[in-house]
Amino acid sequence: MEPLTRVVRVTPETISEAAGILNAGGLVAFPTETVYGLGAVATDATAVQRLFGAKGRPSSNPLIVHVPGRAEAADLAFWTPPAEALAAAFWPGALSLVLRLNPAAGIASEATASLDTVALRAPAEPTAQALLATCARPVAAPSANRSGGVSPTRAGHVVDGLGGRIDLVLDAGPCRIGIESTVVDVTGPAPRLLRPGGVTREALEALLGTLGTDDSTGDGGVLRSPGQLSSHYAPLLPVRLDATSAAADEAFLGFGGRDVPGAAVSLDLSPSGDLDEAARNLFAMLRELDRPGLRAIAVAPIPVGGLGDALGDRLRRAAAARPVARA
Ligand code: TXA
Ligand code: MG
Repeated sequence: MEPLTRVVRVTPETISEAAGILNAGGLVAFPTETVYGLGAVATDATAVQRLFGAKGRPSSNPLIVHVPGRAEAADLAFWTPPAEALAAAFWPGALSLVLRLNPAAGIASEATASLDTVALRAPAEPTAQALLATCARPVAAPSANRSGGVSPTRAGHVVDGLGGRIDLVLDAGPCRIGIESTVVDVTGPAPRLLRPGGVTREALEALLGTLGTDDSTGDGGVLRSPGQLSSHYAPLLPVRLDATSAAADEAFLGFGGRDVPGAAVSLDLSPSGDLDEAARNLFAMLRELDRPGLRAIAVAPIPVGGLGDALGDRLRRAAAARPVARA
């Protein structure tokens, strides 16, 4: 039997225990306002290698490095004017900034997949803030799930995927946003959206003007981050998009309260059609509907724009053809 992973409520004592584990090279899962992250000290190459092993993550997929705020990020990368503007407006928050890496920062090359750039994020969630401040080192933290699977928005989700593979889980209940941070490339003067997320394109463009797009992606101007496979965020069952009906051997994930009779089981992301509520529910409901014996999860159409862009991105990847059978 796999050894158990301890799950603890957040107290000053468990925060300092968790920081001690990180500083000794261990792996700690902790809540952010987007999803639970799996942390390792970003300057500790051995710890970062263990993190990739625990997740089963391809070494070509770089990690986001977490800091309490702009001050702690100053020496990690070469800051640009658009990055300054975005950090001033949205940090701490659900925004990751890709910048040129400062080689003198000592970030382990494993964490950046040997790129000359680094993704930086200052999460707002108080537990994450307390842990990062106590640890006092930059912390690399991907979502705390097995690679390719559905992201975790509760401590129990972390244990389901990584129990026995990591040292500790800090439990602060469900995540407030529920979908990952927006990733923006701000290495140069023209920022580009790499992954839609908790901060909307509309909010970014209100500050910066129209975001640069790259039509070669054919993906609505959204560039793919390196190592990000098209199949991702996937439950074990196949996912069928834009469903307006469901068969008797399908689960149905609805939006906006429209009833679809006949499904084996159904849930609604937001009966009132609220995208914030839908984002909070997305990953927990995909997990709940991922039941043996069913043929697929049929998902209702989700509106485009605002948080709908991030929801649509995660659902398209959950529905994408899978390169290999997953354990
Ligand atoms: O909300 C979040 O961002 C969560 C919480 C824990 O902070 N973290 C998260 O990490 O979603 P992960 O590893 O699941 O996703 C990181 C994304 C990947 O798509 C990766 O390719 C991209 O960020 N990324 C990381 N470093 C990058 C870089 N230097 N250039 C471009 N993309 C990068
Ligand atoms: Mg992830």
